[in-house]
Amino acid sequence: MRITTQPSNTCVLVTGGCGFIGSHTVVVLLQQGVEVVIVDDLSNSSEKVLDRIDQIVGADAAEKLTFYQADVNDREALDAVFDAHTIDAVIHFAGFKAVGESVQKPIEYYSNNIGNTLTLVDAMRAHGCKSIIFSSSATVYGDPDELPLTEASPKKPATNPYGWTKWMIEEILGSLVVADPEWNVVLLRYFNPIGAHPSGLMGEDPKGIPNNLLPYVAQVAVGRRDAVHVFGNDYDTPDGTGVRDYIHVMDLAEGHAAALTWMAGRTGCEVFNLGTGQGTSVLEIVKAFSAACGRDLPYVIEPRRAGDVTANYADCTKAREQLGWEARYNIADMCRDSWNWQSTNPNGYEG
Ligand code: WQD
Repeated sequence: MRITTQPSNTCVLVTGGCGFIGSHTVVVLLQQGVEVVIVDDLSNSSEKVLDRIDQIVGADAAEKLTFYQADVNDREALDAVFDAHTIDAVIHFAGFKAVGESVQKPIEYYSNNIGNTLTLVDAMRAHGCKSIIFSSSATVYGDPDELPLTEASPKKPATNPYGWTKWMIEEILGSLVVADPEWNVVLLRYFNPIGAHPSGLMGEDPKGIPNNLLPYVAQVAVGRRDAVHVFGNDYDTPDGTGVRDYIHVMDLAEGHAAALTWMAGRTGCEVFNLGTGQGTSVLEIVKAFSAACGRDLPYVIEPRRAGDVTANYADCTKAREQLGWEARYNIADMCRDSWNWQSTNPNGYEG
């Protein structure tokens, strides 16, 4: 395997590299001197993010970035990418990610997320690349019995097809290692990624009405929506609203870079939680964002949302000890950067 601890000798294929987490990870990799090849079909992202990446990293680092507009499920397109570049490792972000939509469109979700992963790993195998970092999720822990969640906490049944795709892809990648011990798999279980690049040039740009709390709050702050809808205030938490472990997208991006360095020369399958270890309630988020944008954001209490858990937050000891990685940004930083992005790009990349 050619991955080395010298980033300048490494070439990484990033699927979904124009998306929210993918684009921030690409910036961190380019800034470390890694050569990056993005494959993204732009089905839920904008090509404009490529200009923003160039602006952030500068012309020299941007020379090491190549973009292909292609569906990861398109085997011919993938083969062409692997023929054109000596890919050392893949970071696989590409996938559909809207929980509610996945309930309405299970065939599309299973077919896209699982199908593209199978196409990808088959193409990797055919080209002798067996190192992959997968974008997994704390959703695989389901409704936890105990907090904080460690990597040894049991996987629990998912409550929607999106969650099942993450759950099953973890199993699929684990099976590869059992069948062929040359595979090198890292499963990164993200908690709740929020925030934006501190420059304000890149951030989350959901199409339609945001499903997730932070982009919704940010759109209320910028005047695109009237009030935050708080889903339930009768949970068994200090203020009754749901508690999550929000993590700044730049910390998450750094976590991928740390995993890439760590996996050099290894084989096997390892799981890491990427969170902050801190739980924050919905009302605490509304308050923190209000402070960031300088006005009290209106909110209304609604019934609980189906499928939501009361609370989850991570124990990130394993990532700290093994990857040497730790989250650095707090909730105030996350809201500041999210507001900076949202207020300077009120309509996202298309604004
Ligand atoms: C956070 C909290 C809501 C919206 C989901 C996926 C997960 C991952 C991240 C994404 C909860 C409350 C939300 C709103 C609210 N995958 N809320 N009003 O549900 O923890 O995780 O997104 O790609 O796999 O399950 O995140 O941001 O939707 O919700 O009150 O308008 O905010 O009830 O307590 P969640 P979220």
